[in-house]
Amino acid sequence: TGYVTYDPGFVNTAACTSAITYIDGDEGILRYRGYPIEQLAEHSTFLEVSYLLMYGELPTAAQLEEFTGRVRLHTLLHEDMKRFFEGFPRDAHPMAVLSAAVSALGTFYQDSQDPFDNEQVEISTVRMLAKLPTIASYAYKKSIGQPMLYPDNNLGYVENFLRMTFGVPATDYEVDPVFAKALDLLLILHADHEQNCSTSTVRLVGSAQASLFASVSSGVNALSGPLHGGANEAVLSMLERIRAEGGDVAAFVRKVKDREDGVRLMGFGHRVYKNYDPRAAIVKNMAQDVLGRMAKPDPLLDLAMQLEEIALADDFFVSRKLYPNVDFYTGLIYKAMGFPTKMFTVLFALGRLPGWIAQWREMMSDPATKIGRPRQVYTGAPERNFIPVTDR
Ligand code: CMC
Repeated sequence: TGYVTYDPGFVNTAACTSAITYIDGDEGILRYRGYPIEQLAEHSTFLEVSYLLMYGELPTAAQLEEFTGRVRLHTLLHEDMKRFFEGFPRDAHPMAVLSAAVSALGTFYQDSQDPFDNEQVEISTVRMLAKLPTIASYAYKKSIGQPMLYPDNNLGYVENFLRMTFGVPATDYEVDPVFAKALDLLLILHADHEQNCSTSTVRLVGSAQASLFASVSSGVNALSGPLHGGANEAVLSMLERIRAEGGDVAAFVRKVKDREDGVRLMGFGHRVYKNYDPRAAIVKNMAQDVLGRMAKPDPLLDLAMQLEEIALADDFFVSRKLYPNVDFYTGLIYKAMGFPTKMFTVLFALGRLPGWIAQWREMMSDPATKIGRPRQVYTGAPERNFIPVTDR
């Protein structure tokens, strides 16, 4: 009290302690619960990583089976939720549908919203993880006017999501194992990133002791912004624009440097990484694998690689320590899998969910937690006397 630090964007302010994710932005290091992201990407699965983030340790085989089984039990949405999707305009952005649907989930589970009751938190956690893929695929089906598919609980987490998204009723759908593996890995890479904008939002809303549903729904909205999760969508629009304007990558980079119309190189730069984003390195390798499977190569991949090469050799980017971030190549992979651009950020949300839940749970069990309430530096008028409207 009395003394306030002015720190726009919270560049130097830690609002919590956390034992979940470690980042060293200068060295390009990312670890979940101490495990390097490279090792998790190579050996783990998304559900296993979710368990690790939320409960602190890698599960034993029995624990993983029990956890997977519980998630599987909750993949169905209440039938009344379907009508909810019908109400949106067909061109609704799926991120808006997603956040609204997560908020609406809270209306179906009013009996499990006490943030300090372990059993209630546990069931909300599992419901949320199980139902988000179902909601995400329904948001997609809505946008293309196809009927929604019920989950098939014989399938794995990612396979089930792919089938609900791309399958149609009464027709067999073969999940491409390479796509399933790639998507699982991308979800792992997005699973947590300490106190980023959406996670801080989830914590801030949760600090008022709002429910997990209310907090996560707010996180989805934060993630939708183009400077955050929306960047993967923005990268694709940028690449398409470059192609439409004749494919002159160097000319585009000049525009960015001249700050023409405030244009930024989307998918470049990061608040914390002042080195190559370790996730971007993994994604770049994968992009070449997945895109290599396509009958016709995507010309946008070539543009992206040229863009990276030119930027990394240019003093404007070098001196500002701007490197590709996780979103630079993800959009191209999602596109190759058949997702429309509007779904890209939804995929980010599916990945970030266990991180949001883990951070929310950590905060709720931390005795040091207080309601989040930043201070301000007032710059408005000094005291003045009211003038009646007739005299103004
Ligand atoms: N293109 C061109 N210039 C940039 C970029 C960029 N992508 N990013 C930063 N700069 C410049 C910026 O203009 C500033 O220059 P100067 O000092 O001359 O004014 C300097 O670099 C520092 O930038 P900043 O805006 O102070 O950095 P920040 O930490 O506030 O912003 C960022 C971080 C990620 C919002 C920003 O780099 C950006 O807008 N990148 C493009 C959007 C993007 O890819 N976002 C995804 C981030 S990773 C996944 C996620 O978080 O969801």
